[in-house]
Amino acid sequence: MTSTGPTTAAPEDAPAPRPLGDPLPADLLDDGERLTRDELRALQRERLRATLRHAYDNVEMYRRKFDAAGVTPDDLRTPEDLARFPFTTKADLRDHYPFGTFAVPMADVRRIHASSGTTGRPTVVGYTDGDLSRWADLVARSIRAAGGRPGHKVHVAYGYGLFTGGLGAHYGAERAGCTVIPASGGMTARQVQLIRDFEPEIIMVTPSYMLTLLDEFERQGVDPRDSSLRVGIFGAEPWTERMRRELEDRVGLHAVDIYGLSEVMGPGVAQECVETKDGLHIWEDHFLPEVVDPVTDQVLADGDSGELVLTTLTKEAMPVIRYRTRDLTRLLPGTARPAFRRMEKVTGRSDDMIILRGVNVFPSQIEEIVLRTPGVAPHFQLRLIRHGRLDHLTVRVEARPGCAADRRADAAREIARAVKDGVGVSVEVVVEDPESLERSVGKIRRIVDLRTQA
Ligand code: DLL
Repeated sequence: MTSTGPTTAAPEDAPAPRPLGDPLPADLLDDGERLTRDELRALQRERLRATLRHAYDNVEMYRRKFDAAGVTPDDLRTPEDLARFPFTTKADLRDHYPFGTFAVPMADVRRIHASSGTTGRPTVVGYTDGDLSRWADLVARSIRAAGGRPGHKVHVAYGYGLFTGGLGAHYGAERAGCTVIPASGGMTARQVQLIRDFEPEIIMVTPSYMLTLLDEFERQGVDPRDSSLRVGIFGAEPWTERMRRELEDRVGLHAVDIYGLSEVMGPGVAQECVETKDGLHIWEDHFLPEVVDPVTDQVLADGDSGELVLTTLTKEAMPVIRYRTRDLTRLLPGTARPAFRRMEKVTGRSDDMIILRGVNVFPSQIEEIVLRTPGVAPHFQLRLIRHGRLDHLTVRVEARPGCAADRRADAAREIARAVKDGVGVSVEVVVEDPESLERSVGKIRRIVDLRTQA
């Protein structure tokens, strides 16, 4: 893996993009990134008090919840006092569908997004002009942390629309002084053609759709390592260190992680720095993180694993207080940006956890195993069925083209054994023909739950 600069020459009159993969030069840090930890804490306290007051005064749901818990915004003296305030859940937001948690008049709401919610009502989010501007600033900060520089071209293959991925990445890349290629998701063959012709240095896409694009590169007879891509900013779904290695090896780029969720803003809540690739710095000047025990709801110490809870510090249209993300991670001290704490790569959502005969199973654990098994492609799907009163999990994987029949059988045995030894459950493994599993064009659906139909 090299960290050389882009292969394409910049137009004569444009400033030459700075190299990728190097630490951010001090002149490209923004004001928030220059804060000391003490300055940041003082800012958080001030912004938190203002946010609690804004939510209490302007959103009936928060007024009711705070009153029921016997707290007022004035009870917050230090950021730790936040633990006395009630949580907000996705159900709370859904119950006030569509605009019931907005804190400003509708005339001040400039844009609306909505979460992808597979069942029931989506959750709706609103942004003022100021919210949109701060969002662009934070995605621009994230792109710079990933190695993007003014003058780079950014291919955005996150979906455009109500989903926050496409437009969030788009305006951030523009704010960073990059040239945006707004490809959105789908039309895979054309995407690959565009990448070959326009030669972007950066791609922003879900890791699963990146795999789909890589298959298409191969179909077109092009080695992705010969492409212009040097940085991939991958997020919107969990992905493992194995997947990082797979993507970096196959494309010859830096694969870095971007995290966010629509309820809190969209992409750009936290970002991994390219020079360390050691988890994601949470942009704590705009979001206050806590990690809680998902069962007891107690706030955990930094370093302990649990559910991430986020409070917005600067959102005007829709402030969110102690939002239960359902994402599992832990907080770690800052490194490349010392004032901001990091979150470990999200291992999974509590919603995606399969409980199989008493053992917790996450798709990311299966991903690690499938991706290290020779002879199979990096695509997999988990199928849950019920036989009698027992649940059964089938891991469907795909043979790589040209994989011999006996290698397939060995791969199935190896995966089953690794899952038994590493995760502690017995699963059936089926190695399907190449190209038989559904491909991602955005967020991949890993679990197919057929238990209610059994
Ligand atoms: O997925 C926002 C986004 C777009 C993030 C593009 C990054 C890139 P939602 O559709 O509301 O918003 O889904 C949010 O996706 O709670 C996590 O479960 C998951 N997720 C997002 N980023 C990551 C990540 C966007 N880097 C939900 N790693 C979140 C793991 C992620 N999971």
